[in-house]
Amino acid sequence: MTRTLVVLGTRPEAIKLAPVIHALKQHAGPNDQTIVCSTGQHREMLLQTFEQFEITPDISLDIMKKGQSPSDVVGRLMIELGQVYKDHTPDWVVVQGDTATVLAGALSATLHKIKVAHVEAGLRTYDNSEPFPEEINRRAVGVVADQHFASTKLAQQNLLSEGIPPESIMVTGNTVIDSLNWMLSSQQSSTQPNDPNERLIVVTAHRRESFGEPIRQICLAIRDIARNHDNVRIVFPVHLNPMIREPVHEILGDEECVDLIEPQNYANFVRLLQNAHMILSDSGGVQEEASALGIPTLLLRDCSERPEAIDSGVVLSVGADRGKITSHASTLLNDADVYSKMAQPTTVFGDGRASIRIAKCLLNLPFDADDLATTSLNPVEANVPS
Ligand code: UD1
Ligand code: UDP
Repeated sequence: MTRTLVVLGTRPEAIKLAPVIHALKQHAGPNDQTIVCSTGQHREMLLQTFEQFEITPDISLDIMKKGQSPSDVVGRLMIELGQVYKDHTPDWVVVQGDTATVLAGALSATLHKIKVAHVEAGLRTYDNSEPFPEEINRRAVGVVADQHFASTKLAQQNLLSEGIPPESIMVTGNTVIDSLNWMLSSQQSSTQPNDPNERLIVVTAHRRESFGEPIRQICLAIRDIARNHDNVRIVFPVHLNPMIREPVHEILGDEECVDLIEPQNYANFVRLLQNAHMILSDSGGVQEEASALGIPTLLLRDCSERPEAIDSGVVLSVGADRGKITSHASTLLNDADVYSKMAQPTTVFGDGRASIRIAKCLLNLPFDADDLATTSLNPVEANVPS
């Protein structure tokens, strides 16, 4: 019998853990149990995602406060999650990524001597200031985790170089590809024809290191792009963090060709991506989705923990520099050769079966040929049990 407690708190964790939760439930034996604990670090953006993926948490902590800091979140969760772990005594706690929820979820579990499984392990920039505090969170979780599910071989290499035992690492692919495939194949997300005269640019931004001047530079660049190009429509679902919302609405609120919209549910957002000519984003998950869909993306950051996206050519890192953003966007809008070189889909982030591999590993189930047969992952190096 395996009792698995999945802890999640923000939109990207819900998107990337939804297929893992469903796979755990689907493959469970009669005595296995999967418990879902929502910390509620995000409120509206998390509920929107649960609804989309038909997830009802068994435990909801509802800790979000307006304008919270990462240390507020970690401090409150260390106490609240400790009680959850005492009440439910899981064999495994599963966390995904690098948020405050993930740090508290993993640290508290390890202090209660509960095994930690880390999904999307091994992402690194090796710069604690970028992304902040995510680089610190994921490295700390790497120290305490008992099982590391790395999305790519590069992430596996990072973990090995830090002295993580090879037998505790499994290369699975990124679960976001499972979620993306789910949306693409469901009726909820069908491609609608664009206005043939308009090229759609989708924007997202939320990183803490962009607060202040960088987000203003990003907004001014978006305004330049909107004003200097014909037949361009910019759609920007604005993150609910007030540190982002305020400058975005101040600078872009009255722009004719810019639509500032509320955060979209995943089906709607995937539909936007499918229709996008180009993406401007500082998001982690969007880099992976853009790579899978082959949509040229300007990364509004100076570095990425997902160098595979940059190496494959779909994503170009331009930082939060107004001049660089506008000039690269102009090139992509005006130069068909440059555009088509970037617009190449890649399977580097996985084959859509990451969640099944993760569930089978946690439930000690044998792997079948499909689990082992992948285009971009080497099963021998992936350390998949035979
Ligand atoms: C958090 C994560 C970040 C992740 C991002 C995904 C940390 C430190 N940061 O950043 O790693 O990439 O989520 O989006 O864990 N808010 C709402 N409603 C919501 C969500 C947020 O009102 O549904 C507002 C609240 O005022 C909240 C603020 O946004 O206090 C910040 O939320 P928080 O989770 O602390 O940070 P994010 O910037 O969202
Ligand atoms: N996303 C969404 N609705 C939106 C914007 C983004 O569902 O309006 C999804 C997006 O497809 C991706 C995830 O949210 O899977 C990324 O979340 P975010 O950028 O907030 O966090 P990060 O991935 O940078 O941690």
